[in-house]
Amino acid sequence: KPLPLLFTPIKMREVEFHNRIVVAPMCQYSSQDGFITPWHMAHIGGICSRGPGLTFVEATAVTPEGRITPQCAGIWDDKHIKGWADLVDFAHSQNQKIAIQLAHSGRKGSTVAPFLHYGMVATENIGGWPNDVVGPSEEPWDEYHATPNVLTKEGIKQLVQAWVDATKRALKAGFDIIEVHSAHGYLLNSFCSPAVNMRTDEYGGSFENRIRFTLEVVDAVRATIPEGMPLWLRISASDWLEESMPDSPSWRVEDTIRLAKILAEHGVDVINISCAGNHREQRMAERSLQPVLAGKVWEAIQNSDVRVKRKGERGEKMLVGAAGGVKTGQEGERLLQEHKCDVVLVGRQFTRDPGTVWAMAEDLDVSVYLAKQIGWGWGGRGSSL
Ligand code: FNR
Repeated sequence: KPLPLLFTPIKMREVEFHNRIVVAPMCQYSSQDGFITPWHMAHIGGICSRGPGLTFVEATAVTPEGRITPQCAGIWDDKHIKGWADLVDFAHSQNQKIAIQLAHSGRKGSTVAPFLHYGMVATENIGGWPNDVVGPSEEPWDEYHATPNVLTKEGIKQLVQAWVDATKRALKAGFDIIEVHSAHGYLLNSFCSPAVNMRTDEYGGSFENRIRFTLEVVDAVRATIPEGMPLWLRISASDWLEESMPDSPSWRVEDTIRLAKILAEHGVDVINISCAGNHREQRMAERSLQPVLAGKVWEAIQNSDVRVKRKGERGEKMLVGAAGGVKTGQEGERLLQEHKCDVVLVGRQFTRDPGTVWAMAEDLDVSVYLAKQIGWGWGGRGSSL
């Protein structure tokens, strides 16, 4: 019986994943001064002792102002390394791969954690930084977000360096994969979108100018990580403004396809497709659902001869990741086979059931490896990770 694609191992550069189920990054709003807490160990530990191919920790800020809320996780200080290293060590003790998403919130920073109050600026007296929020232009996301300071060219340069420093810390902590967060309207993504970026310097205007910041970060991070380590980038494939603002310029799937090919030439191995978050007028349309857009990007990559740039050898085709409400093994398999992508990101289902990989394996009649502490109690089902 052929192995379902979902449980077929996949290799990127020198890193192999034992299946194609990837735990999506999910903010926990449970850190203190950027330091992760026992919550993260319990939450991520529970998931990654139950067999995903790769587990992402949440969007992790490269500077204090790059957090979304005062409770977001960070890696802007060497002191943060230890907490992350302990979590990574646990994942590795389970023979698991673990990834970090390096992020800057941009004009969506300094808000109150959504489970405390949705849509509210975090003021200074509760640890916020409303006067230090930055963006490509001065327009705030909405009235519940602080008005951004327009990032100067010097500021951009400093942030590229902040990504490099954060990358070095992530490597010290032992992460297997680094992802650059350029989705959901956060800083890099907001520069990409013509609906948000109103700059007139070389970081605004043309497509090439709007993607410049993202490419500078990608180049700097790629130059910092080992050649054998894959680099991921998460992108909002569409601003979802075609329906609500049809006459306005916006970031559309055609732009994502164009960017994907450029990213491959800059050494990005996986483009991780998400959507929207850039503009308050966004409206989801059926034809712009994430799996549909991921399929379009995947097809475009298959039909092009662009390869991921590697030192001294012809690289592989760029891989595509996609998320989108996957709960069961069948749904995951359908995303890979019918919508077309290479790895499936699963978010909320893992928060409901840390044993989601095991459940998906049962759905598809596959046996999985389980941590010995778990497997032996089920009559030796599976074997030790
Ligand atoms: C998210 N998502 C998200 N995405 C991201 O790139 N970085 C992040 O830190 C977060 N944080 C986050 C927190 C929470 C509570 C949720 C529910 C979502 C989006 C997430 O990675 C994923 O793309 C979506 O949840 C869609 O996948 P599911 O949940 O439908 O499988």
